[in-house]
Amino acid sequence: MAELSTKWLSLESTNNVATMLENLLKVLKEEHVFDRSGDQRVVEFLHPKELQNTMSFSLDENPANEKELETLIRQIIRYSVKTSSPHFHNQLYGGVDEFGLVGSWLTEVLNTSQYTYEVAPVFTMIEHEVIQKSLKLVDYRHSDGIMCPGGSIANMYAMILARYKKIPEVKKLGVSWMGKPLACFTSEDGHYSILKAAHWLGIGTDNVYKVKTDENGRMDARDLKKVIIKAKDEGRLPFFVNATAGTTVLGAIDPLKEIAKVCRSMSVWFHVDACLGGSLLLSESYKFRLHGIELSDSVAWNPHKMLGAPLQCSLFLVKEDKKALHKANCFQADYLFQQDKFYDVSWDTGDKSVQCGRKVDAMKFWLMWKARGTIGLGQLVNQAMQCAEYFLKQIKTTPGFRLVQPYYDLCTVCFWYIPPRMRNKPETLNWWQDIYNMTTEIKKRLTLDGSVMIGYTPLLHRDYGNFFRMVVTCQPPPTESSMDHVIKEIQRVASDL
Ligand SMILES: Cc1ncc(COP(=O)(O)O)c(C=O)c1O
Repeated sequence: MAELSTKWLSLESTNNVATMLENLLKVLKEEHVFDRSGDQRVVEFLHPKELQNTMSFSLDENPANEKELETLIRQIIRYSVKTSSPHFHNQLYGGVDEFGLVGSWLTEVLNTSQYTYEVAPVFTMIEHEVIQKSLKLVDYRHSDGIMCPGGSIANMYAMILARYKKIPEVKKLGVSWMGKPLACFTSEDGHYSILKAAHWLGIGTDNVYKVKTDENGRMDARDLKKVIIKAKDEGRLPFFVNATAGTTVLGAIDPLKEIAKVCRSMSVWFHVDACLGGSLLLSESYKFRLHGIELSDSVAWNPHKMLGAPLQCSLFLVKEDKKALHKANCFQADYLFQQDKFYDVSWDTGDKSVQCGRKVDAMKFWLMWKARGTIGLGQLVNQAMQCAEYFLKQIKTTPGFRLVQPYYDLCTVCFWYIPPRMRNKPETLNWWQDIYNMTTEIKKRLTLDGSVMIGYTPLLHRDYGNFFRMVVTCQPPPTESSMDHVIKEIQRVASDL
């Protein structure tokens, strides 16, 4: 490891933070953090005990010296997963937009909280603009939104608001006062955050009704209607339907128009969890896949997933009038939201939030949007979608690969790999169990080699054991060659299986 000449990480150096940051940048470059060529390993994996033995994690009475700190910083980089590698396909996020990263650093340096105009004047305007433009993408008018820490929380915002609209008294009197238990609805492929929200909000996980999905993983709207009627018959008060635009595993988009119709006829709030698929709204070529989203009451969208905004960057958008979020969540803390301030306090947006201090998440997305324009962001989405389509075609036509389902709505492709010696054999239960076990073995080999990171999962409600979930994201912009790399690497590491 090369050493930096200037002293930069001692207690004395803290009076020159600019030098500290300049040196950090040098270290990041030396350690190839910004290398997107794909030549660097995605991960240098150590098991937990090995990692504990390699790095000094302990926090001690005495300060560490400069050399120890620099070594640690280099180790942190070395043993962290390089999520910006073109070969990272492990999660629904991946890569980081360069403008987003600059926006994120700026946010960190200016270190403020988003609650009042007083401490975040510029960021208040920036968040406002990001929300307004996002509302326009969904085609909501006279509506509102908020940036929140992740999609799970955005889904929770939706449930809180739906409940408040149905029974405003719940804010004061709580759930135990209600005559009937509330019931909510999501598909069997929907994200588990709906269950967590039901738990956190006192609704109870038994009151989350699961709706069947079709062979492509999309909610069956006829079954939704049946399940809502069933919940009523069981003495529940249906209040909330969660449709998904981009399910977590299969990337399926629920039939939003049909679901809207059911929700309207049953007087139930219609929320769309578009955490993954919301980015399609930026693309003139693909946004038609989200037709019907404009009929919803609320939307959750994570630009930190497909689009590559730095984590966390998540929007909750609501069709209701501009006051709805505020009314549902406000508590008018006197020390923070004084009404006699010397400026227009309608710009103090913090009381819409469940949080007090709130990280500025809009800045990074705003800079990405400003620098690329909606057209540029849309082109990135198109490229990711076209590469996912290319990958799908390759999986269909390359011997040994088998799709979990033939069609994918989004940027996810799920498949099994069948090594040569397993091909053309009777596909008994044992044969399948071997394929499932080989999936985990291939995953292990790829990770230990550091050549590709790709996720795997079972889908238990369909009786599927482990399969690969390939996720294609906008950053770094994927190419046909980065798609081919995944296929070649799987074939290589599995050659002796
Ligand atoms: C469809 C869907 N909704 C919500 C979430 C939760 O988002 P977050 O991880 O930002 O809380 C996820 C996470 O993967 C998801 O796939």
